[in-house]
Amino acid sequence: MIGRPFTARACANIALVKYWGKRDGVRNLPAAGSLSLTLDALTTVTTVRFDPALAADAMTLDGAAASAKVLARTTTWLDRVRELAGVTTRAAIDSVNHFPTASGLASSASGFAALALAATRAAGLDLDGAALSRLARLGSGSAARSIYGGLVRMHAGARVDGDDAIATPIAAAPAFVADLRMIIAEVGGGAPKTHGSRDAMDHCAATSPLYAAWVACLDGDLRAAEAAIAAGDLEALGAVTEGSALAMHAAAIASRPTVLYWQPATLAALAAVRELRGRGVGAWATMDAGPHVKVLTRAGDGAAVAAAMAAVPGVTAVTTATAGPGVEPA
Ligand code: DP6
Repeated sequence: MIGRPFTARACANIALVKYWGKRDGVRNLPAAGSLSLTLDALTTVTTVRFDPALAADAMTLDGAAASAKVLARTTTWLDRVRELAGVTTRAAIDSVNHFPTASGLASSASGFAALALAATRAAGLDLDGAALSRLARLGSGSAARSIYGGLVRMHAGARVDGDDAIATPIAAAPAFVADLRMIIAEVGGGAPKTHGSRDAMDHCAATSPLYAAWVACLDGDLRAAEAAIAAGDLEALGAVTEGSALAMHAAAIASRPTVLYWQPATLAALAAVRELRGRGVGAWATMDAGPHVKVLTRAGDGAAVAAAMAAVPGVTAVTTATAGPGVEPA
């Protein structure tokens, strides 16, 4: 019944094989697939209520009115939900990020995943995971993956209309997934990021001489990551994870002008991860559209990795995350 509020919770995810580049900006279709781990420690809780008394959508983010840019993006996205539900009613949206550290940690992924469930239910729809993933993708590509928990595969989508560019859960051994840890080393006190990922990936695709090489390595990396998961081989998964992040950043850094997210502490954290590996600790780094370093490891090594990250000068906070659930009512 339209008019009733609905609240949903979604976790952020960190890509092990990165999404960086689109083949269609309007439908937000990725240039290739990606693969991620949904994380319990980073969640967004969103409430949506369609209200006939509203003349326009209204939104708060972490208790304050959302910026005009965020509201415009959300309204455009909600129009698709209204179209599916056959309504024109405007909505009130309240979204709160429960992140242990400040910005730069994939809040658009948990944000649009939570919004997809909350808005469709509030509009009286009851969509399956595939339809929710497709809707979330229209808001943000990485959000399509946060519909599901654990290890998740995003598909590039083969058909012309891109309708099958959705995420699906990976059937991994539960013990393998339960043993995974992601140690999040915040660099720079969570200052706002310098280049938003959407503009940065478009700029990279348009100007980086390494962009084509980056896209060309994705299918092989995805196959290698899926084989590693099937075999329960964390060393192999870790190697692909670190390789994919470095290849993405190499392409981004080569953009003209450059898209360089790293700070000195980012490199110091990367060196610390290599040093851990030299001591026989299974630890592999990944970085997104910000200076933070996230380290994939196993439960037994989590404390050693967290301590090593905390000791890096310039690392301002360290959080340990485990595999989290998919989007759910809250
Ligand atoms: C570096 O999902 O934020 O985190 O689809 O334009 O909203 P849009 O991009 P977004 O990009 C995420 C980029 C990344 C890598 C990843 O999560 O795969």
